Amino acid sequence: AIAYQIYPRSFYDANGDGVGDLRGIIEKLDYLQELGIDVVWICPVYKSPMDDNGYDISDYYQIDPQFGTNEDMDELLAKAKEKGIKIIMDLVLNHCSDEHPWFQKALADPDCEEAEYFYFRRGENGQLPNNWRSMFGGPAWEPVGDGRYYLHIFGKKQPDLNWENPKLRRKLYDMINYWQDKGVAGFRLDAIIHIKKDPTLASREPEADGMCGLLECCKNYPGIGDFLMEMRHETFDRTDCMTVAEAPGVPYEQYGEYVGENGYFSMMFDFTYTEIYAGWASTWKDYKKVGEWTVPEFRDMLFRSQTEIQKVGWGAVYLENHDYPRALDKYIPKEDHGYASATMLATLYFLLRGTPFIYQGQELGMANCPWNSAEEFNDISTLNQYNLVQQAGCTPKEAVQVVGEYSRDNARTPFPWDDGPNAGFTTGKPWLKVNPSYTTVNAAAERQDPHSVLAYYKKLVALRKDPATSGPLGYGTITPCL
Ligand code: NOJ
Repeated sequence: AIAYQIYPRSFYDANGDGVGDLRGIIEKLDYLQELGIDVVWICPVYKSPMDDNGYDISDYYQIDPQFGTNEDMDELLAKAKEKGIKIIMDLVLNHCSDEHPWFQKALADPDCEEAEYFYFRRGENGQLPNNWRSMFGGPAWEPVGDGRYYLHIFGKKQPDLNWENPKLRRKLYDMINYWQDKGVAGFRLDAIIHIKKDPTLASREPEADGMCGLLECCKNYPGIGDFLMEMRHETFDRTDCMTVAEAPGVPYEQYGEYVGENGYFSMMFDFTYTEIYAGWASTWKDYKKVGEWTVPEFRDMLFRSQTEIQKVGWGAVYLENHDYPRALDKYIPKEDHGYASATMLATLYFLLRGTPFIYQGQELGMANCPWNSAEEFNDISTLNQYNLVQQAGCTPKEAVQVVGEYSRDNARTPFPWDDGPNAGFTTGKPWLKVNPSYTTVNAAAERQDPHSVLAYYKKLVALRKDPATSGPLGYGTITPCL
């Protein structure tokens, strides 16, 4: 199957409020069908205060009104099915929103059942419970005013859920089953690698800022497999469900447990070669520009990923997602951006072993967006980094350039449907800046042009599906020749 990732806020706005929505996706199903897409992963559309654009869920059972209604979701599932397209939803199970009723109850009553669904701890002598650093920068603990702190390894409005609590786990499984029963074909599992924490919550060796990263304390922490296997048995095994895990940091030796024959998931994203530039979660100082890593280094990572994963199971191959700058900017010097480089990257990963994921706009050859001021940013992690960069001595102008290059907002600008107002994305005011490249890089223009990046992607998709080539391309083994 060929998968396509939709960032719903930015895909297509059907009601003119400036934010993409489910009806927008319904209206554009023909586009996806024409491209040859079998599976669509939609980033979170559940009810949310949108502090992290939907990765902070306040009601797992409701579609957020910005995106539409539960009926719209039913209609999307039905219409997609008519076109042979399956829908997979994002599952955010490591944390919820601080506006979720569970957390609100836990705030009001430290002794209630829901208080056990989170990690509340008291700080000693005005100290935080430990020195863990949140993925978005700053300490991973937030005080609630009564002497307690809660753990949030992402934003402050994303309290971590306590998977050690069986009642909480049951509630999460019931929710997964609810969406499965509605006809959702599978799930992408957000930040799933973090659900098991070191139970002692002990501090680690401090780095320069006095805090420590999360690698040793809650990334693939021993015992996580018990939770993941239980979840599989209680949920995914009920249907022929496709699961793809966001699980950076799993060593290849352990891939079999995750995606082997009896693994927790159907496949997972490998972050090694897509984060060769250091990744969105690292501090801005670690970012490597094109030229600071070498092509042989990249090749070796890619081949290692391929050969290790094929020993045990199946992978998802991809270059872009909503957390990265655009692939062209990650991998190609600016002066070489264009048809040749965009199609080279497409060929490179489409002929690998694994299920290819296309991230919206990648098939048009979109590159990063030029950013002129911090007001243009929306992403919580970009804004955090923007402040950190200034604390380190950059002027505001320099800070915009430094974080703009790697900002997640680069991938989140509205999808350019045509060269009309707002790139045809909305009749209202778009929630995020439109990439000015839309005058030439847009779906309408590329559909007309047999030599466009879009036309090339269509050929690649067709090649993976053509019975003459789909055998080796789909199920063959890969042997590096270099
Ligand atoms: C990974 C998601 O892809 C990212 O967008 C989000 O901010 C974090 N997980 C937290 O849910």
